[in-house]
Amino acid sequence: MSSLLQRLKEQQRDLEQEEIQKPDSKIINKFRKDSSGKSKREATKAKSPKEEKYEQIKTRLQNELIKEIKDEDEEGIEKKIEEIASNVLKEETEIKPQEKQRMIRELIDEATGFGPLNDLLVDDDITEIMVNGPDQVYVEKKGKIELSDLKFRDDQHVMNIIEKIVAPLGRRIDESSPMVDARLPDGSRVNAIIPPLALNGPTITIRKFSSDPFTIDDLISFGTLTQEMATFLDACVKAKLNMFVSGGTGSGKTTTLNVLSSFIPSDERIITIEDAAELQLGQEHVVSLETRPPNLEGKGEITIRDLVRNSLRMRPERIVVGEVRGAEALDMLQAMNTGHDGSLGTGHANSPRDMISRLETMVLMAGIELPVRAIREQIAGALDVIVHQSRLRDGSRKITSITEVLGLEGDTIVLQEIFTFKQTGVDEEGKILGQLVPTGIKPHFYERLETSGIHIPSSIFIPGGEW
Ligand SMILES: Nc1ncnc2c1ncn2[C@@H]1O[C@H](COP(=O)(O)OP(=O)(O)O)[C@@H](O)[C@H]1O
Ligand SMILES: [Mg+2]
Repeated sequence: MSSLLQRLKEQQRDLEQEEIQKPDSKIINKFRKDSSGKSKREATKAKSPKEEKYEQIKTRLQNELIKEIKDEDEEGIEKKIEEIASNVLKEETEIKPQEKQRMIRELIDEATGFGPLNDLLVDDDITEIMVNGPDQVYVEKKGKIELSDLKFRDDQHVMNIIEKIVAPLGRRIDESSPMVDARLPDGSRVNAIIPPLALNGPTITIRKFSSDPFTIDDLISFGTLTQEMATFLDACVKAKLNMFVSGGTGSGKTTTLNVLSSFIPSDERIITIEDAAELQLGQEHVVSLETRPPNLEGKGEITIRDLVRNSLRMRPERIVVGEVRGAEALDMLQAMNTGHDGSLGTGHANSPRDMISRLETMVLMAGIELPVRAIREQIAGALDVIVHQSRLRDGSRKITSITEVLGLEGDTIVLQEIFTFKQTGVDEEGKILGQLVPTGIKPHFYERLETSGIHIPSSIFIPGGEW
């Protein structure tokens, strides 16, 4: 008890000290870094005299600001920078008024948010931001990747933003740890990788967090799946089938997993396990677990596998794993085979069949010598449904297949497709045309749905059928 009290006191003291140091050191460090150490690549990159001048004035202004700004809050800083900068710049005749405006904007961005990224971060139409070094920033808008006209000043400028993102999380980025995963305060996922590994210069990839996740109705209206498919998937989840969402990176697996999870009845205890929490379940009884990377000394890592194992001791009724990538596949399959029905997960694969063979490989990663047949038995016994999703060339996401895992025949896992996407063509604008249709096969577990009291009309499995 007393030691706990002591710890709390210490923590409080630390926090207070941080508070005291915070205001000016944060801002001053920010500006200092800007005007110091340039990378080798930049040193060799010639600047036009105009750019030189701009930088010179900006550096002078930064020094001025460091002296003037003490402990204002974010809004205060903005006002102060405007004020001081406008005053200093009034006497400058060598740069144009637009450039002065730009400089003030940049200074404010650098002192407050995430620099040039701010505008992209607040734009709700943008779902992904890709910074490939200072001169090239791509964004994803409505499923399409496009080049933005945004540029950073130089490598150091991008580095500063990365540091700003990772520092509050106690992580660092430098030559000895040149790759880092982090999260913005709003929940967006960030990956950064820097030279010498990244040849374009410091590279940032941001998957923006949507505070308002897509619902089943959204996915239906986007054409990701049909109402019939939605009815079917809802029944599968409610009947506690074990399901996997497969697909490529960015195909919308996590989004679909979130929607599938929303079908879980609200009286069941759900445990979610993720590398970076992305799932946003609406149910009340949800326990969310998140992995932890190793610390600077390489210790203390907690993996998905550790969390899956731990979750089994937490009386789960549903286990939802964000992405299954390695040895945890074995634990998950074992759990599914031993009464933890209704588990959900995603995995990276090019087709439902590919998902199966990848699961085999993942199980082998657990380091247990299992004969292939035994692994296949595990998979066939555990998994009921694979929902395969694709990002099509036109940027749209579609559930291109819903496949039932039938079982083992000889050495082969037998799959049968229940719903499929039939592409019919491409229109003038490159939009992919086609239909999501039932294949005409009624799943073997249809009886199981019925016996668990979930009734769906069998006509939804008939192509062109009315229901
Ligand atoms: N059905 C969909 N239609 C359109 N965009 C989608 C859809 N599902 C996801 N997205 C968008 O695609 C991006 C990637 O989605 P995500 O679910 O994280 O993919 P994954 O988990 O496969 O990498 C996100 O920006 C998300 O908003
Ligand atoms: Mg994902």
